[in-house]
Amino acid sequence: MKTHSIALIPGDGIGVDVTDATMEVLTAAGEAHGFALKTETFPWSCEYYVETGAMMPADGIETLRGFDAVYLGAVGWPKTVPDSVSLHGLLLPIRKAFTQYANIRPHRLLKGVEGPLKAEGFDILCIRENTEGEYSGAGGRVHEGTANEVAVETSIFTRAGVERILRFGFEQAMQRRKHLTSVTKSNAQKYSMVFWDEVTKELAAEYPEVTVSHMHIDAMAAKMVMAPEQLDVVVASNLFGDILTDLGAAIQGGLGFAASANINPDRTAPSMFEPVHGSAPDIAGKGLANPIAAIWSGAMMLEHLGEAEAASAILTAIEAATATGVGTRPGSHSTGEITAAVIAALKG
Ligand code: IPM
Ligand code: MN
Repeated sequence: MKTHSIALIPGDGIGVDVTDATMEVLTAAGEAHGFALKTETFPWSCEYYVETGAMMPADGIETLRGFDAVYLGAVGWPKTVPDSVSLHGLLLPIRKAFTQYANIRPHRLLKGVEGPLKAEGFDILCIRENTEGEYSGAGGRVHEGTANEVAVETSIFTRAGVERILRFGFEQAMQRRKHLTSVTKSNAQKYSMVFWDEVTKELAAEYPEVTVSHMHIDAMAAKMVMAPEQLDVVVASNLFGDILTDLGAAIQGGLGFAASANINPDRTAPSMFEPVHGSAPDIAGKGLANPIAAIWSGAMMLEHLGEAEAASAILTAIEAATATGVGTRPGSHSTGEITAAVIAALKG
């Protein structure tokens, strides 16, 4: 039987709850579709940081490199470890070390889920640059604590980085409705964002079938609320994509439904799959977390691993559950009830 090796990093808070739920569903999908998942769980988290002084061991990245994929629940427990420390110690280094340059996030309403908008028929694939841009981590502080203190944080846009994320976007658009929206702020940021617009135009010439819109981030925020059904593939820089995908999560009914994949399209290292939501300390361990975003992210992982049938069966099962109201409103069902409903539908 085909076996895929998965490194599990449940992380903090509800990350643990939703990782357990996801693995139950993925295991059931494997039984139905003839593959197995060989998992190893790593306790890397804020608790691990408190015990060891690091979010993961020094050879953590090398350990993960041997797996077919990484599945991550959530990172963050600000009561004990500042978010700027925990995220720069685990999630962000993995994205960068494994060149997971495409962060892809689907935004559409699952059956039975009511979003806050009148619009219903939207189906957006947000593609966020995931390794450079505004989150490159280049910068520093001098004269700390004095009146002359200076903080500098530099955005980095490389031709290689901008070109590959846009190319990935064009390729996705070719498989979908052949429309790509490139999001910048080139009216105000005259170097990096004008450069991004130029690269978009260069690539557009290679993909004549794809219609391209150039939008500024501010107008784009409004469009995602006023006319999301006009969007197909959306490509944005790290910061802009980060913000737009929380907006995307909101219009699809909330973070409980927002799935995400950090993809290394060249497959030179494992890709990582995680729900968009965080660790939600207030409801951690109470069985209240909605596992749908996490399970959907797990389906994206199976698709990446070549198990497209199982992935689409999971999506169908999720929607069979939500169509009957399971997991569609906060607090209406427990994590276990939602997971059981998805598995029941999967076994159909
Ligand atoms: C996300 C998260 C992370 C990000 C944070 C926690 C660093 O908000 O995945 O969207 O911005 O990359
Ligand atoms: Mn975010």
